[in-house]
Amino acid sequence: MIDMTSYIKTQANLISERLNVLLSENMPTKVSDAMQYSVANGGKRIRPILAIEFSKVCNGNISAALDFGCAVEMIHTYSLIHDDLPCMDNDDMRRGKPSCHIAFGEDNALLAGDALLTEAFGVLASVKNIPDKNIIRAVLYLSSFAGINGMVGGQVLDLQFEECKPIVDEILKMYSLKTCGLIKAACVLGCLTANEYNEDKINAAINYAENLGIAFQIQDDILDIEGDFTSLGKPVGSDEKNDKSTIVKYYGLEKSKELVKEYTDKAIYALENFENTEMLENLAYMLINRKNWLGNKFWKILSF
Ligand code: IPE
Ligand code: IPE
Ligand code: MG
Ligand code: MG
Ligand code: MG
Repeated sequence: MIDMTSYIKTQANLISERLNVLLSENMPTKVSDAMQYSVANGGKRIRPILAIEFSKVCNGNISAALDFGCAVEMIHTYSLIHDDLPCMDNDDMRRGKPSCHIAFGEDNALLAGDALLTEAFGVLASVKNIPDKNIIRAVLYLSSFAGINGMVGGQVLDLQFEECKPIVDEILKMYSLKTCGLIKAACVLGCLTANEYNEDKINAAINYAENLGIAFQIQDDILDIEGDFTSLGKPVGSDEKNDKSTIVKYYGLEKSKELVKEYTDKAIYALENFENTEMLENLAYMLINRKNWLGNKFWKILSF
């Protein structure tokens, strides 16, 4: 029986080290410091971990998956920097530290997000030892899952839904875009590190990521009420403060917790197209219990 906590810690540290190398190639400026600051120390690195695990179940190239995963993590970090800005969620803390705009100013935080988004595609394009066609596919999948038809589109709905009362399907659509988008990108990019392009496996990976992402966002909304700053590294009560439309607000805590389990089960069911999925199953269960992810203060455990 594998020790999941130590496995995840090892993987997360490997990812953090690689991100450090990728970012250290940048021209030294205040904005490069802001990029480094936000990427370093303490994200759970769930997206790159998923890219690597999907690469494994597809017999892919693991070092390509590491870089694909880092590209997704760079875009994820940019989304968090912008998400925390005063014009969006206006949150002062992230990953256990002052948010990027608090530490570096709004101008530098905006540019750090822009640069992380742009550089991520350079990281993708530089990946070696997989077919060029799969790099092009990776660019297409990542841009579509991250852009206006993906994460950004979801953030647009998230802001609109502060002003009106959406129905439950609209909230789920918003989650599917803003949160599942980058999780889908990570899982699909992992599959693309294999030589052969297998559409059934890609669709199964998308199905896993869609259900995992919905469970993940509902759990994030639950933790925004029940969690504590020490465990999360970000403020609690942000959704209430901003009058966000969440599944928890719609259904209440009890039913939301049931839904987290249901979506997690659906995610695990989607893995039947793959073999040796124990790790992906364990990851899905760990995410439900992520209040205690690696114990408290994970941003102090994982560092570079
Ligand atoms: C936070 O994502 C934003 C959501 C989609 C809920 P994570 O919970 O993965 O944040 P980090 O990367 O661990 O800081
Ligand atoms: C953010 O959702 C999703 C993103 C695409 C960044 P939240 O606004 O709930 O994420 P947190 O709680 O600030 O991490
Ligand atoms: Mg938000
Ligand atoms: Mg937020
Ligand atoms: Mg949240």
